[in-house]
Amino acid sequence: MRKIYIFDTTLRDGEQTPGVNLNTQEKVEIALQLERLGVDRIEAGFPAASPGDLAAVNAVARAVRNATIVGLSRSRTQDIDAVREALQGAEDACIHLFLATSPIHREHKLRMTKEQVLETAEAAIRYAKRYFSKIEFSPEDAGRTELDFLCEVVAMAIRAGATVINIPDTVGYMTPLEFGNIFKTLREKVPGIENIQLSAHCHDDLGMATANSLAAIENGADQIEGTINGIGERAGNTAIEEVALALETRFNHYQAKTTLNLKEIARTSRLVSKLTGMPVPANKAIVGANAFAHESGIHQDGMLKEKSTYEIISPETIGLVESKLVLGKHSGRHAFREKLIDLGYDLDEEALNRAFAKFKDLADRKKRVSDEDIRALIEEKIVETPEVYRLEKLRVSFESDSVPTAYVAIHVQGEGVREQRAEGNGSVDAIYNAIDALTGEEVELEDYAIKSVSQGKDALGEVHVVLAQNDVSAQGRGLSTDILEASARAYIDALNRLIERRKSPRRRDRMSLI
Ligand code: KIV
Ligand code: ZN
Repeated sequence: MRKIYIFDTTLRDGEQTPGVNLNTQEKVEIALQLERLGVDRIEAGFPAASPGDLAAVNAVARAVRNATIVGLSRSRTQDIDAVREALQGAEDACIHLFLATSPIHREHKLRMTKEQVLETAEAAIRYAKRYFSKIEFSPEDAGRTELDFLCEVVAMAIRAGATVINIPDTVGYMTPLEFGNIFKTLREKVPGIENIQLSAHCHDDLGMATANSLAAIENGADQIEGTINGIGERAGNTAIEEVALALETRFNHYQAKTTLNLKEIARTSRLVSKLTGMPVPANKAIVGANAFAHESGIHQDGMLKEKSTYEIISPETIGLVESKLVLGKHSGRHAFREKLIDLGYDLDEEALNRAFAKFKDLADRKKRVSDEDIRALIEEKIVETPEVYRLEKLRVSFESDSVPTAYVAIHVQGEGVREQRAEGNGSVDAIYNAIDALTGEEVELEDYAIKSVSQGKDALGEVHVVLAQNDVSAQGRGLSTDILEASARAYIDALNRLIERRKSPRRRDRMSLI
């Protein structure tokens, strides 16, 4: 069977999504889930960007055992040295070198001639070869590079020692026919191409990333690069789950498969969405909330008679299981444990006790606790941040014809409780003004989003915020049946993370890839 390798760049290109800023623990958590999903390679970051990025890549390298860990590097010795340091402790390491090759990038960004591009890339690959047996080289903006010159660059990279050649459609400009033709031409014309792996890296600016990746496979690509949920720069990258399911569902056509554990897809998608704060659109292929929903009468009728009338993938394939056991106020520990097993969670005794206490608290406020509620509770604090501030009490007064006020009490680590009353343009503004006064932190609220975790008036609400302070930003999440409480919790969570992040800042402009 022809295997297609999956190179996951959620933690690198995915993290370049505006507003996304993962801390080291979050990166490790996602990397471990990617390992469970069975991706072959994990691009953990760009170590030269900052000491914080380097440390995060190193933490991933030390945590993951069953995937190759990749570090990105410009074609410069300092960057290569940073990747060497970052990948210490990895079971299997690979460096990903890149240099732009298209006329637009050569002329306007690099100000280099073709010869200079060839020389710079070759020197970098030869230098990296001293330290790495696995080297991936990317001619950035390959899609818009003259095909003859691209063949020349790829031939040079192979001679210099690259083991994987990645072809990026950096700006998502290609059509499937054009992109497929690049792979066909490279396979036909470049000497030594049979000894390396060919990889495709697509962006979704014209909504063609998945189609282009599949065209690359049809024309000889061995590896697909992408991200979970398709997150990434601008319109994002190829969504890994889409390629994997296209290969699985249309095996008769592609005659190729990934070795992903497809049942981990739903959980991986949820985790990435939660930790990045990037909601998955309801109509997103494979992982959107509506991907398996059938609304119209005709479709529902067809589904009841025979599922294959309107369903080409079963929800179980990606690990979406609906457990039959309904939980509520009177459910005991045993039923709760059974439910967790049904939903695929394996908690130790201590975590189970904590989760059960949270469940009981929720069941007091909510008649029927759904599977989504339970997932939200379990996954709420996947990553623990030291709590400098903790919400103690919240009181909000709102009348449509007067100024909203909030009273907030927080517990400050090592000090005790502080309280504050404040006004605002709205209830959330009043709460945030009170918290600002309590903490003395000057922050900018860059993003605020709210969504309901399940259905019904008593549904759990999840708030996601992004706070910025100078060149450091952090996101926070809060969960509650009350959206004002969830808003306060999210803000305080983001403040705690900001304080943590200030200890090892990561540049916000870290991806000026020149
Ligand atoms: O899109 C791109 O060109 C990249 C390179 C760094 C491979 O992400
Ligand atoms: Zn990219």
